[in-house]
Amino acid sequence: MKISFSKNFESSDVWVLPFWEGPKEAADLPVPMTGVLDDFKGKNGETAFYYTAGQRFLLVGLGRQDKACVEALRKAYAAVVRAAVSKKLKKIEILFPKCKQKEEFLRGIAEGIFLTNYSFTYKHDTIKEDPPVLLEKVGFVGVEKLKLIDEVETVVNGVHFVRDLVNGNSDDKLETILKAAKKLHPKVKTTVFDKKRIEKEGMGLLLAVNRGSEVEPAFVQASYTGNPKSKGRVVLVGKGILYDTGGLSLKPTDNMLTMKCDMAGAATVLGVVKVAAELGLNVNVTAVMPLTENCIDGKSYKLGDVYRSYAKKTVEITNTDAEGRLVLADALAYSVKNLKPDTIIDLATLTGACVVALGDDISGLFSNNDDLAEELMQASEMSDELIWRMPVHSDYFENYKSEIADMVNSGSREGGAIKAALFLKEYVGEIPWAHLDIAGPAYIPKPKHYNPMKGTGHGLRLLIEFLKNRA
Ligand code: BES
Ligand code: MN
Ligand code: ZN
Repeated sequence: MKISFSKNFESSDVWVLPFWEGPKEAADLPVPMTGVLDDFKGKNGETAFYYTAGQRFLLVGLGRQDKACVEALRKAYAAVVRAAVSKKLKKIEILFPKCKQKEEFLRGIAEGIFLTNYSFTYKHDTIKEDPPVLLEKVGFVGVEKLKLIDEVETVVNGVHFVRDLVNGNSDDKLETILKAAKKLHPKVKTTVFDKKRIEKEGMGLLLAVNRGSEVEPAFVQASYTGNPKSKGRVVLVGKGILYDTGGLSLKPTDNMLTMKCDMAGAATVLGVVKVAAELGLNVNVTAVMPLTENCIDGKSYKLGDVYRSYAKKTVEITNTDAEGRLVLADALAYSVKNLKPDTIIDLATLTGACVVALGDDISGLFSNNDDLAEELMQASEMSDELIWRMPVHSDYFENYKSEIADMVNSGSREGGAIKAALFLKEYVGEIPWAHLDIAGPAYIPKPKHYNPMKGTGHGLRLLIEFLKNRA
């Protein structure tokens, strides 16, 4: 998308005018607009087209001025994009609202626009018949170019990268992820373990989950070293289930329908490393991705059988649909042992229970370290990607007692998100660790504000804020 800055309106498909909620004066209008002042309330996200003097205007409500914030602007300008795109308009010029907080406002407006300006389709004749229309040119009027616009663009391109990976066909996911990981950025070093190497390493849980799949597993590490002088390293582990049928504990159709999203954690951590490198952040960060399908086959891993993890602990399988914690356990234990992280954060579409608890807007945060949890809460406030801390209540671990192995892999349904986090905690030792259960926000059934339906890329902006604060 082309972005420009100018003093006055230039020719374009539509001129966008901002309004605060409340009484308006005729002087607020650049040209007389009959009726507009009575009709248009200026509520956040309210939009209306107005045609006069051969020019198309789009009025946008920003909401109450005393409640102005970055998130309110994202939402308001998300509505602008939806309104413009619904009329197939491709070039818009935006009159910048009068304000003191130029940086904040530009960030909110630009993020709202770029995040919303996204589409993903497999419709067969999109070139000729029904091309998805997106904005191609956005002009900002009445504000000078600020440096942050480039950063916003880089970050949102990262969000789009994640959405594309999540929305793509499951059958293509392994290939696309490996291809992307290998050419992520010149400064990112990527290693891929194939099945042989995974066997040699002894990642028995990843291999167990993979048994039912025609597609061989992969274990990918992508490292960016932006601060070579420091020994510190943040390791981000992403659940990479390329498709989750549930395995022999087969999911019913309705629950399986969305399970191409089950690698959203992996896609997000890969996107974070890409963006960190592109921004040249002064941090060391590695994305770790255990990748496999959880499919069903004569060779599928079986309930009641016991498998040995990378950490040597044995696990009795009591539900093959609790596969995420298994592949993460191996990835976490491997990372702790080999990558010397000072901080380890995993992202996973881990439990339906977390969606029941927090819904589609909010991810569950679990941590063994209050400072790390606080850092993530701050990053959440900066990015407006919502997370909420839940207890890692160790008493519930009694659920995992096995008669024949060190633990089973699934407990009872009550507090399922907490119990899943407890399982992971067994594999991180004493290292400051946080787990984000993104099962709700990673993939949504219908568009909401600046997020499209399906893959949202939730978590990327949050983790970039987190890394920026560390840098
Ligand atoms: N991938 C699912 C969790 C999920 C559910 C993600 C809904 C996104 C939306 C995960 O592998 C799973 O199946 N979890 C089970 C755990 C249970 C068997 C202990 C669940 O949540 O039912
Ligand atoms: Mn599952
Ligand atoms: Zn899963």
